[in-house]
Amino acid sequence: MSIVYLNGDYRPIGEACVSVLDRGFLFGDGVYEVIPAYGGHLFRLDEHLARLENSLAGIRLDNPHSLSDWKHLLNQVVERNGGVDQVVYLQVTRGVASREHAFPEHVQPTVFAMSNPLANAGAQGVKAITARDIRWELCNIKAITLLPNALVRQEAAEVGATEAILYRDGAVTEGAASNVFIVGAREVATPPKSAQLLPGITRDLVLELLSAAQVPCDELTVTVEELRSARVIWFTSSSREIVPVTGLDGMPVSGGRAGPVWEAAHSLYQDFKARIRANGAG
Ligand code: PDD
Repeated sequence: MSIVYLNGDYRPIGEACVSVLDRGFLFGDGVYEVIPAYGGHLFRLDEHLARLENSLAGIRLDNPHSLSDWKHLLNQVVERNGGVDQVVYLQVTRGVASREHAFPEHVQPTVFAMSNPLANAGAQGVKAITARDIRWELCNIKAITLLPNALVRQEAAEVGATEAILYRDGAVTEGAASNVFIVGAREVATPPKSAQLLPGITRDLVLELLSAAQVPCDELTVTVEELRSARVIWFTSSSREIVPVTGLDGMPVSGGRAGPVWEAAHSLYQDFKARIRANGAG
């Protein structure tokens, strides 16, 4: 059974319990991170912890741990789960209080972290649908309040697709749980950061790796029309890496193949992971 961290203790997942009055349960009042570990080394940990800090500030919740405490705690979770490839989920909620919308005073946040197996990244393309972005206006906060994301993912699942690509006012924002890239006529493009999308850690790394390899790429508004006529589409996330989209709304993309630009991005990413496994620096 996997070992989780909950409010200061490490214990088997079956023995970890949270109160029904937890504001995460009652209000979705909390934030989270998903951090992969390769060969036991947490990937881009500083970047994930900086985003966690922004998310906590975004919901006006004091960070319950220092940077070094977080690192220790998360490394413990990885170690206690075998130190192998895995993905760590961490969540901070405002804590346990009687049900009142306004923030309670003097309440300890609930801090939880668990480990899950990492899905194998591969060249296997997936199908996607487009869907209206029905979420709130602060999508840069990695909030646990994921009902709209779950609804559109379910819409995708019901037609045999893996991801829903969201749009607002005719422009692509991101996937239900990923960032979106297209290869257009001249270059690789992904929507610029704003409150309409999560600043993905994988997204940033892919841009960094492509730029360093002189592959033309930019942060640009991507219209739904551009998405539909893109030569290549892929989505990125910490748990799935870089996933090619080979069908969109029932139509083939890239002739159903991942394509050479995706191959280049994928191989740069795999090299980066190999360096983390070898040197530990992520
Ligand atoms: N989700 N956009 C959204 C809405 C996401 O939920 C995620 C990741 C991303 C990609 O961010 P990153 O590259 O930092 O993982 C973008 C995680 C994996 C999840 O909810 O499981």
